[in-house]
Amino acid sequence: MWSASLAAGAWYGRGVRRLCWIAAALSACGPPGPKVPVTSALTAGEGWHRRVAIYELSVRSYQDSDGDGIGDLRGLIQRLDHLAELGVGAIWLMPMFPSPLKDSGYDVADYLGVHPDYGTLEDFERLLGEAHRRGLKVMLDLVVNHTSTEHEWFQSSRASRTGEKADWYVWSDGPGPGCEESNVIFGEERWTFDPARGQYYFHQFFSSQPDLNYRSPELAEAVLGVARRWLELGVDGFRLDVPHQYVENWPKCWHQPQTLAFHQRLREEVDKAYDRVLLGEVCCGREEVLRYAGSDRLQLVFYFVGMHATWSAVKWGDASKLAEHLRFAVQNTPPGGLHANTLGNHDIFRTPTTMAAEASGLKLAATLQMTAPGAPVIYYGEEIGMRDGATWAVDIRDYARTPMQWDDTPSAGFTTGTPWLALSEGTAALNVRVQAGREGSLLSHYKRLLALRNRSLALQEGAYEPLATQSSSLVFWRRHPAGDRLVALHFGASGTIAVRAEVPEGWSALVDELSGEEVGEVRGAVWTATQPARAGWVLKPR
Ligand code: NOJ
Ligand code: MG
Repeated sequence: MWSASLAAGAWYGRGVRRLCWIAAALSACGPPGPKVPVTSALTAGEGWHRRVAIYELSVRSYQDSDGDGIGDLRGLIQRLDHLAELGVGAIWLMPMFPSPLKDSGYDVADYLGVHPDYGTLEDFERLLGEAHRRGLKVMLDLVVNHTSTEHEWFQSSRASRTGEKADWYVWSDGPGPGCEESNVIFGEERWTFDPARGQYYFHQFFSSQPDLNYRSPELAEAVLGVARRWLELGVDGFRLDVPHQYVENWPKCWHQPQTLAFHQRLREEVDKAYDRVLLGEVCCGREEVLRYAGSDRLQLVFYFVGMHATWSAVKWGDASKLAEHLRFAVQNTPPGGLHANTLGNHDIFRTPTTMAAEASGLKLAATLQMTAPGAPVIYYGEEIGMRDGATWAVDIRDYARTPMQWDDTPSAGFTTGTPWLALSEGTAALNVRVQAGREGSLLSHYKRLLALRNRSLALQEGAYEPLATQSSSLVFWRRHPAGDRLVALHFGASGTIAVRAEVPEGWSALVDELSGEEVGEVRGAVWTATQPARAGWVLKPR
């Protein structure tokens, strides 16, 4: 099952818990591996994605600069300082291309342009320059399983059965076969009749999103050309939308060998430019995800099972699935590939909902995200604990796409006009200005964590070595010649636990880098401590 549809299934109310449980359970699928010890250095090699946290944002909801209530590129430029101060190293922009917005921009009408709501190509180039000046990488969302029906490619394909682009989409005289994979929120209909061409076209998403036909060499070349064009302009990489769905061998529509083969070609294209990165939204089983990662395919892959496992650790105080997920990801992700650690995204409820968490739970989840092996991908607003909204413009996933909250004024500093989507609740406390000035706020915690991570090679790429613990706890080493770190996380919501680790000689006392305080005691090269509920420590020798 596709995670976004899985998560989006959550929008149907009561289904949410059941689906989250199923998803969480998936993380325990596969042969149980040894719980301890697992030591595996992350693969060697350059690449900015190995060092920095990525920040996903919606241009539409980040900052409006012209009072029309819609976020735009100039607004985003005004907020780059927030991102640099936060400590992220890259931004991933949700689709900002021309689009009828029937799927919030995931229905692209022109891959090479900028949606007029957001500005112009010149604005984008300025954004790129301003981001780079601050050391921020910029990733675009490459949505090339399908286009919008409004894309010129589709207009041309539907207009003629013999034209140049006749086979750029998947056409059939009658409704063709379905897919064995379900796609809950988009409906099960897979073929739609097009009166202009007098044939049916195939789509895995809404009928306004016809699937591209990668069996056409010209189409495949055109998609590579789109990537090339943005790379030439200077973008640092792409987040790939549903990269497992490009080629169908009905009834199998996902994970087909031809799809994998295309990713190798795309990677070759990307590697012609210097240090550019592909991040794949691959779904869902972890053995399948692995196949997309590696030095000749994508550098980064989401493992949504890991996200669900993190939710259950925070929600239920049980980190056993999380421990198993991390062990699996570290041991099995092929060389040159790395898993991304994420807590939320634009398709699912926000973290206070999914983790049923208050500030201490959100802080702990962030501590995990920034210290565990893998690349952190933060969803905008997570750093201030933004909650779900209560209205939507396009579909119910808009709950998680409300305007960013910058201050406690009526429109939260997002716009001087009327926001395109009502703000979520709690803006008085859940905003950047208030939290920036408050020691102990979630935002301060994120900043401290990211600063820590940014200066610690151990946290960025240290070997991962988990220790045996109780199920409510996760204790692991990040080992690196530049200096080891010991991380101890207690997910339980109440009570204390005893934690213990053998420490190297010379570690006579351990200091938590987050609080600056010494914790526990060392006797005979063994450190012991009593850890309170929801505490997360990042430890180094004093
Ligand atoms: C996955 C995206 O995350 C989602 O938002 C979108 O609706 C579908 N792909 C279709 O592009
Ligand atoms: Mg605007």
